[in-house]
Amino acid sequence: MIREPFGGVVDVVTGGLGGGTGRYEKKLGDLDGLYLDADAHEKLMRELGNPLVYAVEDFRPGTQAGDLIYGVTRMIPGKVGDEFFFTRGHIHARADRPEIYYGQQGRGLMQLESPEGETRIVEIGPQTICYVPPFWIHRSINVGEEDLVMVFAYPSDSGQDYGIIERSNGMRHRVMSDGKGGWQLVENADYRPRDAATVAALLSDYA
Ligand SMILES: [Fe+2]
Repeated sequence: MIREPFGGVVDVVTGGLGGGTGRYEKKLGDLDGLYLDADAHEKLMRELGNPLVYAVEDFRPGTQAGDLIYGVTRMIPGKVGDEFFFTRGHIHARADRPEIYYGQQGRGLMQLESPEGETRIVEIGPQTICYVPPFWIHRSINVGEEDLVMVFAYPSDSGQDYGIIERSNGMRHRVMSDGKGGWQLVENADYRPRDAATVAALLSDYA
């Protein structure tokens, strides 16, 4: 089947996507247990009543190899204790599939972690393209004071494995406020590195 081409407008304020086929949201309650300060999480839930943390509108033509899924993500600014709001994060189920993010509005970070546990940070502002290479776990973080809006695109057959982060008790680093309006990386004391066999299995995915 040959699809019809089209153009769609990105709304940098609402995070809307013209021609999108779906939308999903993650609220603070969906991210329970992921932040360092569980008390601060509970307090925020009480005060704000399970606020939205991020919303995604996307276009998914299917899951066929060679096709492309793309969309817009809008992340709300905020912190749980001293830790900035983040997305759940994942590695692609087909780990050799890449992704790009293109900043539209706001100030954010892409936190990347290799299978061996190395951390990289890419700062994303308006008109910044972030290349997420194959094999990197990735999570985005709003470190600004306004909504962070980004466009993304990845191969349709990538899939997402969210469990990789859970199995290591989180990512190796947390992105926390430095107390001066900026951010800093803090080691996650609960982090469990992946063993050599797990790393090798991930990297052998290159088809
Ligand atoms: Fe991804």
